[in-house]
Amino acid sequence: MKNSILNNRPSLRAEVEKTAEVAGLLWQKGWAERNGGNITVNVTELIDDDVRLMPAIAPATPIGQTLTHLRGCYFYCKGTNKRMRDLAREPMQNGSVIRILDDCQHYEIIADNPVRPTSELPTHLAIHDYLLQKGSPYRATLHTHPIELVALTHSKKWLEKDKATRMLWSMIPETKAFCPRGLGIVPYMLPGSNELAEATLRTIDEDYDVVMWEKHGVFATDVDAMQAFDQVDVLNKSALIYIQSLSMGFTPDGMTDEQMQEMTKAFNLPK
Ligand code: 13P
Ligand code: ZN
Repeated sequence: MKNSILNNRPSLRAEVEKTAEVAGLLWQKGWAERNGGNITVNVTELIDDDVRLMPAIAPATPIGQTLTHLRGCYFYCKGTNKRMRDLAREPMQNGSVIRILDDCQHYEIIADNPVRPTSELPTHLAIHDYLLQKGSPYRATLHTHPIELVALTHSKKWLEKDKATRMLWSMIPETKAFCPRGLGIVPYMLPGSNELAEATLRTIDEDYDVVMWEKHGVFATDVDAMQAFDQVDVLNKSALIYIQSLSMGFTPDGMTDEQMQEMTKAFNLPK
């Protein structure tokens, strides 16, 4: 790959390649139809002085919010309208690295190609700003359309606070261990809107790593894209077990409250 920002930057390359691997998994799962889903990764800690001097390759674009903790930060972003299955093969043709300007209100694309970032950038950046403000080690945010989890949100019953969380945790002990904050719920809002970004932020702040956008998809955050994917994967596995039981003709019992409490103690879980 000639003239790529990834050349001679092994840690940045590894992070982008890990993200590309996740994009491939999303496609294999059937969660990434067409351009469905998006990933952004805060790569600021992997950036050197040469990158800091790199000029923009497209005019600065307003973010639509003032995100004071993102001044001078760098993100790898999936491109809008780009396919996960293409990003898996060619991450720098289907995504780009952006820099947040000093006014904290604009970003510019610096590499490799002028690929415009995802339409869900308002939510991704709002959450990254929040994570930095909190001193969180989380650096990746991921949005995807997991079939069974989205299906659940077509019933009002599963939109009640922590109703879906409890059911999903009770299907298999690992779900509680590996998605220990559960699934927050954000009511339906227009994709890509600032309103959706604000509602997602409020819900993450209620102490969730994964939130459900009603009738749309999930938004997850973790240290990297792979771990954010894992949290969604364990939740969706639980939804599959639930559905499988229903299709076998019975409603699954689920683990008891006592069994789930025992998990919380044994694994020192936050909830
Ligand atoms: P982008 O192609 O702009 O990333 O949008 C995909 C999506 O899932 C919007 O919610
Ligand atoms: Zn979407």
